[in-house]
Amino acid sequence: MEHQERVFSGVQPTGNLHLGNYLGAITKFVALQQSHQCLYCVVDMHAITVWQDPAILSHNIREVTAAFIASGIDPKKQIIFNQSQVSGHAELAWVFNCVARMGWLNRMTQFKEKAGKHRENASVGLYAYPNLMAADILLYHATHVPVGEDQKQHLELARDIAQKFNVDFAEAIKAAGHHDGIFFPQPEPLITGPATRVMSLRDGSKKMSKSDPSDMSRITMTDDAETIVKKIRKAKTDPDALPSELDGLKDRAEAGNLVGIFAALNGTSKEDVLKEFGGKQFSEFKPALAELAVEKVSPIGDEMRRLLDDPAELDAILKNGATRARAIADPIMAETKKIIGFI
Ligand code: TYM
Repeated sequence: MEHQERVFSGVQPTGNLHLGNYLGAITKFVALQQSHQCLYCVVDMHAITVWQDPAILSHNIREVTAAFIASGIDPKKQIIFNQSQVSGHAELAWVFNCVARMGWLNRMTQFKEKAGKHRENASVGLYAYPNLMAADILLYHATHVPVGEDQKQHLELARDIAQKFNVDFAEAIKAAGHHDGIFFPQPEPLITGPATRVMSLRDGSKKMSKSDPSDMSRITMTDDAETIVKKIRKAKTDPDALPSELDGLKDRAEAGNLVGIFAALNGTSKEDVLKEFGGKQFSEFKPALAELAVEKVSPIGDEMRRLLDDPAELDAILKNGATRARAIADPIMAETKKIIGFI
């Protein structure tokens, strides 16, 4: 069987959806829908690896759904759904819990960061999380996965799991008619552009994140214009003018971050931004960046609020997406079970 190209990616509904999520992932989702069949998943089962307030979780699931649509993903053309409505994710994750090795998961840096010193107290789900992520992708035989830089290691694990499954069950896979011995294709990460790792506005050594206690560290997709302008005005920088060449951004994390954000929002490169602003002070660059950010982010926030006013419509979109997702997932899950030897 030929493996057709298919895009899958996911975003956790854990609140505070921010510019890093938008530039690192969602803008790529929008672009890929022109050329590929895409599934974009609100990964609510990933979210509960850390306790979530049920009412807030429901709201956040709708908020990510609204962000997808407001950013320009067409829910009629592409599949937008939430993970918990398609049972194959949980089923395949269990299979992968039995394929992946403890040693592989022990190397995951994100678990170490998230569990911190309280490793003994972290949920088993948080530890097994990358196996569920591999299941998300492979349940659809997805070939391309647009993500930010921080997901690279998880994608490598998904590739290792796909390969080990293919090797562990090589004979059964061939017997099922896959003569190339490939049942699960190796998914390719798509980590491209000038904003694959957007940093905190308060500290250029830390990633912009949903869980940073400081709201000033991130621009969220629902920030109003005034807030966006304020956050950029207060963003940490250094006293020097912007350089004219990329090399000049070395060891200037905060400056490099703002230049990357500008480039990504403008659909250009960091080099182009430096051509325009090289030699200029932040007092000139920041207002230009603020104006651009307001122009690009505010309409999305407005549209999200409009969509969130009608939760029933968002729920209907998710239900419809889940039905279409199941139509792809169910036969793949059924074949997986057969390959394993389940009756
Ligand atoms: P999540 O919800 O943390 O983030 C969603 C997407 O946003 C990207 N991202 C960033 N990109 C640039 N700069 C940043 N500061 C930044 N912060 C976040 C993430 O890389 C991601 O692409 N495990 C995933 C969700 C997931 C998934 C999947 C992704 C579950 N299953 C299957 C792809 C395929 C996560 O926690 O993303």
